[in-house]
Amino acid sequence: MKNLRMIINPLDKKSHINKEIYGNFSEHLGRCIYNGIYVGENSSIPNTDGIRNDIIEAFKNIKLPVLRWPGGCFADEYHWKDGIGDKATRKKMVNTHWGGVTEDNSFGTHEFFRLCELVGCEPYIAGNLGSGTVQELSEWVEYMTFDGVSPMAELRRKNGQEKAWKLKYLGIGNENWGCGGNMNAEYYSNEYRRYATYCRNFGGELFKVACGPNSDDYDWTESIMKNIGSNLMNAISLHYYTVPTGNWNSKGKALTFSDDEYYDTIEKTRFMEELVTRHSEIMSRYDKEHKVGLIVDEWGCWYDVEDGTNPGFLFQQNTMRDAIVAAVNLDIFNRHSDRVIMANIAQAVNVLQAVILTEGEKLVLTPTYHVFDLYKEHQDNTLVYSYCTEEKIDGRSLPAVSQSVSIDENGNLHITLSNCSLSESYEIRCSINDFEMLSASARILSGAPHDHNNFDNSDNVTIKPYSVKTEKDNIIIELPPCSVVAVSVTSK
Ligand code: AHR
Repeated sequence: MKNLRMIINPLDKKSHINKEIYGNFSEHLGRCIYNGIYVGENSSIPNTDGIRNDIIEAFKNIKLPVLRWPGGCFADEYHWKDGIGDKATRKKMVNTHWGGVTEDNSFGTHEFFRLCELVGCEPYIAGNLGSGTVQELSEWVEYMTFDGVSPMAELRRKNGQEKAWKLKYLGIGNENWGCGGNMNAEYYSNEYRRYATYCRNFGGELFKVACGPNSDDYDWTESIMKNIGSNLMNAISLHYYTVPTGNWNSKGKALTFSDDEYYDTIEKTRFMEELVTRHSEIMSRYDKEHKVGLIVDEWGCWYDVEDGTNPGFLFQQNTMRDAIVAAVNLDIFNRHSDRVIMANIAQAVNVLQAVILTEGEKLVLTPTYHVFDLYKEHQDNTLVYSYCTEEKIDGRSLPAVSQSVSIDENGNLHITLSNCSLSESYEIRCSINDFEMLSASARILSGAPHDHNNFDNSDNVTIKPYSVKTEKDNIIIELPPCSVVAVSVTSK
């Protein structure tokens, strides 16, 4: 076991950790919405208005703060009026992006807001700029948020929703450099300005999110900042997926991978740090006051689909490797919370790095879900200074340990740590400056890198209580290989 030092200074307060950093993304893709979150009112699976009760409870347990919907690439082909009114007469549509399946539009605006209401999370709507019209999006905003007398507000009432919903987050287009219309940044900026102008603030301030860069496309960010500016947009989105092989034609498998591929994955996911730093630097040149936030509204691992599943459905399993990926990214977002104001893992259920998998009535919480559970204590806290001596994985420039520390409104500290090493344990002696410690409690998620939960064994990887030692102002935390630990420290 190697010894490492960690220093925490609770007096050195950094930035507010928006709870929205712990958000999820749900798209009409594969079995995320239909046969996932939404099973319909007539299903034998216990549900509330068609939404699975076990999923509602699971989201509530991790205090899911925000959910993005309806896409993704799907968003720029979605016509919201097809998803309202009597379900029996709603138009059927073909989901051309994802598997070419026919959808009956039974999950639409009302159902999405009901889901958010049941979970207690903020809705984040992704609007259609790619194939829609300014009028269509502006009417959707009117339909959702206007409480007065108007054609769209009347239509909403006719469809059973008297009061306008509360909507803060509105994305204007998705990946418009690609599936959202193959635009260049200047063209998109002009389109964005037109759309944003007519998305009126009917009830409260709409928080408008512009389509941001694909990964390291720094020119896109530069152009958006220059051509849109902070008066018409509140945030820019960033998408970055971790592909273990770096090859989109053969991405690697979720369950079978070598140690090298495991470390490659963690190395690739750590690229998020550079992305956030460099995009933020560009944004700061135009926006010194940080009026425009960065929203990482798609992130996570993207593997080859599981054998025998529809390639258009992007269904993949989830192991302890994914848990480490989640911990590393959430630490990065915490550490950059002066700019990163929201993040949404892709995706919530049955798609990509899902927090929940379902099969018929069965449900599995993935290792990634458990990381969101361990990290939920950071929500709406203040990030404080922390430093840990850096230990590299043999033969790589990859740090073994990742950490972030926050202080809550009662003055208690919350430490999250992960160890990506597959062979080395670390004993971390953590000293806390100017802090009178009363008690420390901890929880751990650990296992072999391939460990996962499936429908026959849903509790193979779960959070366990953990003990840490305390000595005066020090906490001694042992980090086993491939583990994620959360420690809460109360003050006197
Ligand atoms: O999350 C899957 C897809 O990845 C989304 O639809 C798209 O925005 C991205 O390319």
